[in-house]
Amino acid sequence: MYSDKVMDHFSCPRNVGEIENADGVGEVGNAHCGDIMKIYLKIEEDVITDVKFKTFGCGAAIATSSIATDMIKGKTVEEALKITNKAVVEALDGLPAQKIHCSVLAEEAVKAAIEDYQKKKAQ
Ligand code: FES
Repeated sequence: MYSDKVMDHFSCPRNVGEIENADGVGEVGNAHCGDIMKIYLKIEEDVITDVKFKTFGCGAAIATSSIATDMIKGKTVEEALKITNKAVVEALDGLPAQKIHCSVLAEEAVKAAIEDYQKKKAQ
């Protein structure tokens, strides 16, 4: 049912934790399953230098958080904003249809964290 990549990122998730004084924090949830994902960003000159996540959710939500945080690390804010749930699913070699919404949560959490960063920067 799950690809090796999903199993790998689920059993050894990368970038777990939180960042104190993060430059951007995004928290999103899915009302149906009740899962919650929170992403913390450290950003220097518009480049994401560090990223951590905390996910209270299913295995696919943990795997998508893990790979999405890996995908945006070292990227510019502009590049990270282009991340789509489709790209996250592809990077995991696919997800079962009923788990696609978990990858949407990852895309939304990244975008919410960047929006928070941009709001703070504009102040
Ligand atoms: Fe809802 Fe995975 S079941 S995020």
